[in-house]
Amino acid sequence: MNILFVCTGNFCRSPTGEAVLRRMVEVAGLGDTVTIDSCGTHAYHTGQPPDSRAREAGERRGYGFAGQRARTLASADFDRFDLILAMDGGHFDRLRQAAPAARAGRVRRFLDFAPGTGRRDVPDPYYGSAEDYELTLDLIEAGCRGIVAMLRERKATA
Ligand code: 4NP
Repeated sequence: MNILFVCTGNFCRSPTGEAVLRRMVEVAGLGDTVTIDSCGTHAYHTGQPPDSRAREAGERRGYGFAGQRARTLASADFDRFDLILAMDGGHFDRLRQAAPAARAGRVRRFLDFAPGTGRRDVPDPYYGSAEDYELTLDLIEAGCRGIVAMLRERKATA
């Protein structure tokens, strides 16, 4: 399964999703069943490595961001990726509008994989504090645990 995380800048949330899920699938022994990538709806940071605050917060929890560079969504992404994960409702609406009708079902709200959080949006931490980056990580870890559970189930029933 090919999984794409989408946020605004591909600078904070979606690179963190990519890093967290990559590690969690490796730990779960599912690394060879998925490819993981991320992108943004806007080009503010195209070509740049992830935000240093996001990177440092993630690295403190053991996640790696090596090689990541911001890019924007491409129309080919709707063909390349089976699961396209929107970090918040704005991204979800935008992705649903951009998706060809036959691919709309591939677009999902990321936190729907973590119903226990009681949230549907991973808030934008860009103008926030260090605590906001920790909340971003908490929510992304919860969502990624849900994705790993789904991948495990899928493998068990394949
Ligand atoms: P992200 O955060 O969508 O989680 O990458 C943002 C990064 C940059 C901007 C907005 C959100 N910006 O306006 O530059």
